[in-house]
Amino acid sequence: MLNFIITETYSAMSILAANRVAAALINKPDLVMAMPTGGTPVGMLAEMSRMAKEGEADFTKTFSFNIDEYIPLAKDDPQSYYSFLQHHFYQHAHIPTENTFVPDVQAADLTAECIRYEQIIVDHGDFDITILGIGHDGHIGFNEPHATHSSVCHLIDLKTETIEANTRFFASKDDVPKQAITLGMGTILRSKEIVLIANGVSKAAVMKQLYDCTRIDPLFPASFLLLHPNVTVIGDREAASLFNL
Ligand code: F6R
Repeated sequence: MLNFIITETYSAMSILAANRVAAALINKPDLVMAMPTGGTPVGMLAEMSRMAKEGEADFTKTFSFNIDEYIPLAKDDPQSYYSFLQHHFYQHAHIPTENTFVPDVQAADLTAECIRYEQIIVDHGDFDITILGIGHDGHIGFNEPHATHSSVCHLIDLKTETIEANTRFFASKDDVPKQAITLGMGTILRSKEIVLIANGVSKAAVMKQLYDCTRIDPLFPASFLLLHPNVTVIGDREAASLFNL
């Protein structure tokens, strides 16, 4: 069973997750991190940025990797996931640009690009810590249902449900990219520590499914986290409203 921590508020969830990163950073100043985007991590990234600004944490020697990126958004496209991390985290934490990584989703050969991105991660000794959000269908990164435990970085067609969930960040549903490059389940599971965060009532059903989960189910990708020895799920009270903890 996964280790769950439930906080009363989104803010407390965010601070706790940021503290996990800061704790790992104390032991390893050149921490190798995998970072998510979306609505959930905004508070955590703000707290990590605050820690950096106020001298509580030094991210200047860390390495940070996007967990996924939409095809075909350029790195500097305001809607790209790289821009998201730049805006919410890197610029505040003064992470050197050369220490930040994202798949080049405009590469001519995207399959070769996936292999290249995976190799960069391996060359950095794999992730010390991976922070994950969770999709309503149980996806982590963009490992959608029908995932396998050993997959590495790969191209993915986003499920209709994921496209609909992400429409809120775009002018219309038609503007939401339909494909992405994502870390594989295997890439994520090689991380030394994994923290999954979830907030809000919209995540209550998937969080209950994760809480009740006792076996691997490729149709529920988050279930693969059961294979990892060091996973902490941090949810706020609303996300945990369908189970007792
Ligand atoms: C994004 C990512 C996704 C999101 C998930 C939840 O980089 O990897 O798995 O974490 O779709 O998104 P939000 O936080 O917007 O609910």
